[in-house]
Amino acid sequence: MNIRTLQNEIINVRMLKDIIYFEEIASTNEYAKKNNTESDTLIITSHQTDGKGRFNRQWKTTPSKDLTFSIIKSFKITIDEIHLINFYSSYILLSALKNYFGESVELKFSLKWPNDILLNSRKVAGLLLDVKDLHCEIKKFIIGIGVNVNGAGYEEELKAKATSLLNETNKSAEIENLLILIVKKFYDNLYLLKNKNELMNSWTAHTDIIGKKIRFRKVSDDEELSVTVLDIDTDGGLKVLSCEGKITKYYSGEITMNYF
Ligand code: BTN
Repeated sequence: MNIRTLQNEIINVRMLKDIIYFEEIASTNEYAKKNNTESDTLIITSHQTDGKGRFNRQWKTTPSKDLTFSIIKSFKITIDEIHLINFYSSYILLSALKNYFGESVELKFSLKWPNDILLNSRKVAGLLLDVKDLHCEIKKFIIGIGVNVNGAGYEEELKAKATSLLNETNKSAEIENLLILIVKKFYDNLYLLKNKNELMNSWTAHTDIIGKKIRFRKVSDDEELSVTVLDIDTDGGLKVLSCEGKITKYYSGEITMNYF
């Protein structure tokens, strides 16, 4: 990883104050949590040995081939607005990936509620958000981002669900350039957080799930529901219709699409 290039490109000019690089570390999010890392710091590693995913899952990567980093950023927002950081970060990540490759019909990037990035219907990137100082006016977010960039091998059970940029494009992507693009976009579009209708409309314009039959699993239980997605509200809630005609709004959980 060429840290000097990163420093020249994204520190100061783009409001980022510091980059902390580890050749190897357990988890960039865990490091930020334990060390109370300051706002506007980027923590990045070439080899994340114990990456955390949503629902306490592991996030596995290929050393030096994938992107694993956390952006630490404080925002003055209310508890009701916390979901906006999630939708903002996933929208920014999607836009950066789309920009990196330019318009190409073969590459279809899309968003899956609440914050997965799909490429040609398989997961190519994910986000894990941790919040510190939840009850303070200014809350500190640890925005953990994992992008499957140049890794190619996936275990059998993951193959149907996950992919990498390399797998879909047959070309290696330049890790540093991709990261620079993501960070620049993150800092350049912060105005969207003040404009939640525009943000949520942009987000929903890039998802395929509206109107689709999906399987939905609440965080709290193992039961999967078969429902149709009606909409995603500006408050981030997923509005679904059950087979019995009941409309419910969920704020967390996981959806599976019947793509495969
Ligand atoms: C998910 O989709 O389950 C979220 C994956 C988030 C992975 C990233 S990699 C960098 C940061 N550090 C972690 O331990 N996890 C996040």
